[in-house]
Amino acid sequence: MRILVTGGAGFIGSNFVHLTLSTRPDVAVTVLDAMTYAGSRASLAALGDRVTVVEGDITDADLVDRLVGEHDLVVHFAAESHNDNSLSNPWPFVHTNVVGTYTLLEAARRHDVRYHHISTDEVYGDLELDDPARFTEATPYNPSSPYSSTKGASDLLVRAWVRSFGLKATISNCSNNYGPRQHVEKFIPRQITNVIDDIRPKLYGDGLNVRDWIHVDDHNRAVWAIIDHGQIGETYLIGADGEADNKTVVHDILELMGKDAGDFDHVTDRPGHDRRYAIDSTRLRTELGWEPEYPSFREGLAATVEWYRANEDWWRPMKEATESKYAATQSIVQR
Ligand code: NAD
Ligand code: DAU
Repeated sequence: MRILVTGGAGFIGSNFVHLTLSTRPDVAVTVLDAMTYAGSRASLAALGDRVTVVEGDITDADLVDRLVGEHDLVVHFAAESHNDNSLSNPWPFVHTNVVGTYTLLEAARRHDVRYHHISTDEVYGDLELDDPARFTEATPYNPSSPYSSTKGASDLLVRAWVRSFGLKATISNCSNNYGPRQHVEKFIPRQITNVIDDIRPKLYGDGLNVRDWIHVDDHNRAVWAIIDHGQIGETYLIGADGEADNKTVVHDILELMGKDAGDFDHVTDRPGHDRRYAIDSTRLRTELGWEPEYPSFREGLAATVEWYRANEDWWRPMKEATESKYAATQSIVQR
């Protein structure tokens, strides 16, 4: 089987490539990645000749048409993925997430190639902290940020291509991922690498916003379950019952790294900051038999701390520029 993995040099895509090579001996992978600030060749180093890396843009229609035509399956991870960046400059999000997805869908339609679309729980908006509800496949779309609205738009394009053109596609919407090779702009790696650098972790607003954490390998195992057994045209939510507020996560990181639990700063809040995400993954579990393999968020977090401690060569080149960008927009707030 020949698969085209877009965004395969990013966080989740590169972990998908690693997982695929170690569990699927019959699969050859082509990565299509523009190598933006978020792409890392180091994430794909030493993987052998079952992986070909093509540096290119998913909005390049000729390139995409040629590559899609040479493969049996497209798994589409490529995106502009960071909410904070989408607030300062939304255009790359519209370009990559909407126009890029359109470009891939048209190529998959022309060549009649199976397509799996990676998306996010953020398309559903947010929940109150005390709301017993969780997102399901039936929750209406209500995105808040430029990032999540472009992801919602891309999901709707996929649904339309299934219905109008009979595209053989599935969609998954996953909650917050953590694990190795995540860019240091994101919450968990930012705080771990801050602690390594003797910088106090930074919490947006009151720190009580809740995210539903899942290890990246559990996400990617679910993606394979959907590719193997999912129904064409359907959407599956992926989540591992990992709800935690940001303050608790920072406390856990500080404790795992031998620091005082109060050793963090509150900083300016993110505009429009979603309060809580929570996934009900009953459909994925009952229909496709998927279950997360990581026993607990705390164990996965400890392994992630160890990965960043052991792989400073990987993250060091991106740390300074990331913190300078944050310093320009965020300041410490007394609470
Ligand atoms: P990431 O930012 O780490 O990686 C994105 C990759 O896409 C990078 O390698 C980048 O170079 C590439 N890319 C960006 N624009 C491109 C373009 N125009 N053409 C080709 N490649 C391009 O993102 P991630 O966290 O790995 O997220 C991957 C996917 O998973 C995204 O679609 C995201 O919306 C979705 N998702 C992420 C999470 C999460 O917690 N990180 C949760 C649910 C869903
Ligand atoms: O829910 C899935 C989404 O999760 C994905 O679709 C996105 O691609 C991914 O980036 C992530 O979005 P979030 O905005 O939830 O992730 P982020 O890591 O930016 O922030 C997680 C939480 O931590 C959020 O409440 C904001 C907060 N935060 C973030 C940073 C970077 C802080 O308190 N301090 C920080 O320094």
